Amino acid sequence: MSTTFPKDFLWGSATASYQVEGGIENCDWAAAAREGKVPVCGRACNHYEHYEQDFDIAKDLGHNIHRISVEWARIEPEEGNFNQEAIQHYRDVLQALRTREIEPSVTLWHFTLPTWFSETGGWERNDAPKLFARYCAYVAENLGDLANQFATINEPMVVAGIGYIRNDWPPFGKKAYLRYFRAITNMARGHNQAYRTIKEKQPKLSIGIVKHTVAYTAVGNPLNRIKAWVMNMGWTHIFMSRVHKQCDWIGCNYYNRKVFGDTRTLDKTDMGWNIDPEGIYDALKELWKYKKPIYVAEAGCADATDRFRADYIRDTVRAMRRAIGDGIDLRGYCYWSLMDNYEWAEGFEKRFGLIEIDYDTLERHVRPSAYVYKDIIESNGANVD
Ligand code: BGC
Repeated sequence: MSTTFPKDFLWGSATASYQVEGGIENCDWAAAAREGKVPVCGRACNHYEHYEQDFDIAKDLGHNIHRISVEWARIEPEEGNFNQEAIQHYRDVLQALRTREIEPSVTLWHFTLPTWFSETGGWERNDAPKLFARYCAYVAENLGDLANQFATINEPMVVAGIGYIRNDWPPFGKKAYLRYFRAITNMARGHNQAYRTIKEKQPKLSIGIVKHTVAYTAVGNPLNRIKAWVMNMGWTHIFMSRVHKQCDWIGCNYYNRKVFGDTRTLDKTDMGWNIDPEGIYDALKELWKYKKPIYVAEAGCADATDRFRADYIRDTVRAMRRAIGDGIDLRGYCYWSLMDNYEWAEGFEKRFGLIEIDYDTLERHVRPSAYVYKDIIESNGANVD
């Protein structure tokens, strides 16, 4: 296969504020932890204080993009009151990336909501889109000179699905379909309003959304193709059709593919998910329907013993190369995650990191697979055959 990665393809990894920073107590997840409904996050990796050290490692591993999220509860701890200290912290973080020539990608909301918002209805509030857009515009105005790429929302369908239907995450709704639709609708509106508000003042910033993309495909019986089509519509396209016009780029998070009619049994990650990195090709094809530049904003595996992570990354890279060969405008890849972190309702046990965290001492140990990824980066994706 002759396709190669574009010369300016970006390689790196991702984290999210609540999962790594530590010390965030005024959000819905921290409140739920106090009620014993989810594991306590506490100091997590204390990335809030150790970010320089962590970025040194990322630099050493050859990364030239890094996706972070900023914490809404830190930046707007009370409705309408914005915290300059929090902004200064994130300015320092972005500066630290730039100093290391690592391109920042900033996600404005990655699952955790300030308690003033969650306790007054959260995404079900009538004014949720307006409040979210105001927060996004504030951040863009204050950080937009240090980062060019922003995503409004990480995985709207996941956070709403688990939060309103499966009862496992805040706000702990069980089969609350009407609330779910209301929240999802407001998220789509919130994204669109944020996009327009930011663009009015800062037209040059690149604003997108990050979509968890389960690739549904089919083999055998034609009925399976219909099933796959319906699922892709339900999971990806109904939502994306509402926001894609307000996207300069789209982030693809890939963890699972469902092949209807496939009876094979695959090995599993520590999350119990199929090890199926090649499926990212199908996920990218789904998102390419919108003809916007795509970044893989997350793809990775929980693998505490680091047995299959290197192969997982190699297979992901091969599948991304195939997608580029088919004409998909794929511009970067952020492995999930730079370091082990708080895996939501699973706590700290699942380990996705290129860097292993010792949660007792907070020591960082680079896993062998991280060096395999480094070699791949150095060859710009050419050495994966
Ligand atoms: C989320 C991450 C999470 C990862 C692994 C993604 O859905 O954005 O926060 O840690 O999956 O479960």
